[in-house]
Amino acid sequence: MERIRINQHVSYSRIVQGFWRLNEWGFSNQQLNDFLHELVDRGITTMDHADIYGQYTCESLFGDALALTPNLREKIEIVTKCGIILPNDSHPHFTGHRYDQSYEHIIQSVDQSLLNLKTDYIDTLLIHRPSPLMDPEEVTRAVMDLVNEGKIRAFGVSNFKCNQYELLNESLKKEKSHISVNQVEVSPLQLENIEDCTLNRMLQHDVKVMAWSPLAGGKIFDKEDEKAQQVLSVIQPLATKYQVSVGTVIYSWLLRLPSKVMPIVGSSKLDRVDEAIAATKLQLTDQEWFDIYVASRGTDIL
Ligand SMILES: NC(=O)c1ccc[n+]([C@@H]2O[C@H](COP(=O)([O-])OP(=O)(O)OC[C@H]3O[C@@H](n4cnc5c(N)ncnc54)[C@H](OP(=O)(O)O)[C@@H]3O)[C@@H](O)[C@H]2O)c1
Repeated sequence: MERIRINQHVSYSRIVQGFWRLNEWGFSNQQLNDFLHELVDRGITTMDHADIYGQYTCESLFGDALALTPNLREKIEIVTKCGIILPNDSHPHFTGHRYDQSYEHIIQSVDQSLLNLKTDYIDTLLIHRPSPLMDPEEVTRAVMDLVNEGKIRAFGVSNFKCNQYELLNESLKKEKSHISVNQVEVSPLQLENIEDCTLNRMLQHDVKVMAWSPLAGGKIFDKEDEKAQQVLSVIQPLATKYQVSVGTVIYSWLLRLPSKVMPIVGSSKLDRVDEAIAATKLQLTDQEWFDIYVASRGTDIL
């Protein structure tokens, strides 16, 4: 499995596993531990989390499974996120749904993630979504303290557009730091980050890109969704031609992007994880890539 260098301390596997839906998988601690070993055996070592996943439960489920094999931690990279407040029963002091990217919240959130994940460091902390109230200098101060205390080894953002990225990155640069990763939504049903400045700017600045919901959260398989059906009518014949799954064609389409996108697999099923891995060996022609792109746009290129 290809590795992508994030900074001098951290590298990721080209295919990343996501844990947003972990609380729905019904895994025991042992089953999740087995799943993690299967991933590592396949070369998938990078695990994507957020504090809020599963109403703040997924990190703890993961930490409990990780603790069953103490040396597993050093074989994986943990990415987690902070900056969204979700009111729920376990957090009665969160009175409303909002963003919080204050110094205090970032530090508290990371300390809680470390406890949940049963680890003493996070490989990469991401700010989950850009906030209109974000003070870049305050975020920078929190990031620098977390780095200096050894609690995080790299820093990034998620769902940031070019101007939001630049605002925060300029502040970090004053402290000789920078944004290393931007995690954004990209799929054949979601072209926005390909068509606006986002992916190009990340490539220009050597910021690594993770793609969330690479299969559009499963919507690509929705028989009632007109756009999905339109795109599938192009992908299905390619899957037949190359004797792979539809999923493999989609992952291959993502891997073809010049910014070396790292797709985040959302499934707990190993055969679907293997569909993503198979894509690392499938090269679509440029024409095939554009046929999928045009099917998604709904209009031909000029
Ligand atoms: N930064 C952000 O704002 C953000 C937002 C969303 C997600 N994420 C990250 O991205 C990861 C992946 O997102 P995602 O879960 O939306 O990924 P996805 O791969 O686009 O969607 C996964 C869903 O598709 C279904 N699926 C996969 N293959 C299928 C098939 N052949 N037929 C029918 N259904 C199929 C899966 O069902 P099964 O489980 O049954 O396979 C699952 O429900 C998350 O875990 C999270 O780590 C980040």
